[in-house]
Amino acid sequence: MRRSICDIAADAHFEAQATGRQVLFSGEGESLIQARAELLYRAFENVIRNGLKYTAAGTAVEVQAERRAAPNRLRVTILDRGPGIPESDLQAVFKPFFRSETGAATAGFGLGLAIARRAIEAHGGNIRALNREGGGLCIEIALPTD
Ligand SMILES: Nc1ncnc2c1ncn2[C@@H]1O[C@H](COP(=O)(O)OP(=O)(O)OP(=O)(O)O)[C@@H](O)[C@H]1O
Ligand SMILES: [Mg+2]
Repeated sequence: MRRSICDIAADAHFEAQATGRQVLFSGEGESLIQARAELLYRAFENVIRNGLKYTAAGTAVEVQAERRAAPNRLRVTILDRGPGIPESDLQAVFKPFFRSETGAATAGFGLGLAIARRAIEAHGGNIRALNREGGGLCIEIALPTD
């Protein structure tokens, strides 16, 4: 199945509206951002859905896709307005079964980010988490493009 990150964001937005949240996509167009495999698709879906799980009611999850040259890379940033993650856990959240204190209020196994990292690294990319100024989490994903 080949779906774009824009499609994934649109599906998540459709579901989020019922809870007063949004997913806003911005980027250079669908054709540039084909998820190349089912695993990669799931990686983006996991990260966007984490954002929706934690972002405050009435706020949006922003998904931004940007193409960079030399080396050719696609950079996708997923931003929310939730609690963020304690600085000391920013790397640990990518380990299987690790859940930070922010996870306590929601259901989950602590697997989403670990699976996302494996899929993205298997495609030659990388993923990292940062806290945003003003509150919330920023997940940055970089993938090599052809
Ligand atoms: N957007 C976010 N804002 C705040 N904390 C987050 C966010 N995304 C992930 N986390 C923290 O990182 C932990 C690991 O995330 P991960 O997606 O791997 O697991 P999960 O969402 O708890 O469960 P699963 O994905 O298996 O359903 C979460 O338990 C939570 O503490
Ligand atoms: Mg998750």
